[in-house]
Amino acid sequence: MLEGKTVILGVTGSIAAYKAVDIASQLSRAGVKVDVVMTEKATRFVSPLSFRAITGRSVTADMFDASSELNVTHIALARAADVVAIAPATANVIAKLATGIADDVLCCMVLATNAPVVIAPAMDANMYENPVTQENVSRLKKRGFVFVGPKFGKLVSGVEGLGRFANTVEIIGVISQVLGRGGSFADRHIVVTAGGTQEFIDPVRVITNRSSGKMGYALAEAARDRGAKVTLITGPTLLTRPVGVEAIDVCTAEEMLQAVRSAISGADVLVMAAAVADYRPRTKAKEKIKKEGAGLTLELERTPDILGEVKGDFIRVGFAAESENLVENATRKLRRKNLDLIVANDITAKGSGFGVDSNRVTIIGKDGKAESLPLLHKKEVADKVLDKVAKLLTERYKER
Ligand SMILES: Cc1cc2nc3c(=O)[nH]c(=O)nc-3n(C[C@H](O)[C@H](O)[C@H](O)COP(=O)(O)O)c2cc1C
Repeated sequence: MLEGKTVILGVTGSIAAYKAVDIASQLSRAGVKVDVVMTEKATRFVSPLSFRAITGRSVTADMFDASSELNVTHIALARAADVVAIAPATANVIAKLATGIADDVLCCMVLATNAPVVIAPAMDANMYENPVTQENVSRLKKRGFVFVGPKFGKLVSGVEGLGRFANTVEIIGVISQVLGRGGSFADRHIVVTAGGTQEFIDPVRVITNRSSGKMGYALAEAARDRGAKVTLITGPTLLTRPVGVEAIDVCTAEEMLQAVRSAISGADVLVMAAAVADYRPRTKAKEKIKKEGAGLTLELERTPDILGEVKGDFIRVGFAAESENLVENATRKLRRKNLDLIVANDITAKGSGFGVDSNRVTIIGKDGKAESLPLLHKKEVADKVLDKVAKLLTERYKER
């Protein structure tokens, strides 16, 4: 979604200005053309040279810079932008944008652009909560500016409050989401499950599996970046919730079933990337089981079959983690669960499966055609899966 896009990164005179260097760096690494526009005060905090070195592009900080290669710099940048992100944004710049003041190159450029504008405020909590700042923020929100943060937390002054700059991942997540608006999945609702479930033996012990949730999270982010409304139903994981995605936390297979049931009504696609426990203890001990005797026998029962139980008119995508007979076993699962697609991963392959960032998968369609992909980053696998889902959606909506 980001590759080849032009992001104008506005940097203002906040103590958090140095963090914009990381944003510029990560965007550049994702293949974005990053043009940095700084206020004069921002240059007191970070040198334009840092941004120039990171982005490999010239940095604009002076509207009247006679040496600029661009013809009327602020207008040229305004036209080139796919999105403008002001990160960090000071109270001052927010106030100027809310009232249309155009006394620096950043504010002029924002006035002149038709691109969406993302604002990540960073300031002292009293400055942010001051009614005048709040009025300015709500004015800008009404005009369609997209805000990310600020967050509650420890501020430079040493006190805790609402004013902390959002982190790089969140800001880039919102930029991707804004770029994805009107994308190929616009107006589509996709429900994704992720992570392993946990089935309680007693209040402290669970039966679970090694799923990290990375594949499901990558799918949720990729669907968001194509403009979809995404509901992510997630088992316990160590991953950060993706921004722009509704995340529902569950623990057991039963809770996941209930969450999928309520999320799926009216949805277009269900992607079951979660590793749902197949069995759970027949009873959950009320108290912690004591270490007595040489062994312990647990009686297990089947957990609900989520794909089997959830009926409706939506595209059904399943995952199969297999250690042998990959295609045969996955195809059998596809038929048994009446899926439109199944993504089979060979958990014995090096660098593939649980916990790692990469996956080697074979995608099998209803017609039995199997496409084996090389070892790819889970984000790339997510895109390949969604390319197939996009085709299924197109066919489905053509029929209607
Ligand atoms: C050390 C220091 C840190 C500052 N941090 C912030 C900040 O995080 N947010 C903010 O709104 N203003 C902050 N200010 C005040 C702004 O720099 C000041 O309002 C300035 O006029 C903003 O200019 P600009 O909006 O054109 O970049 C800070 C000032 C100093 C001296």
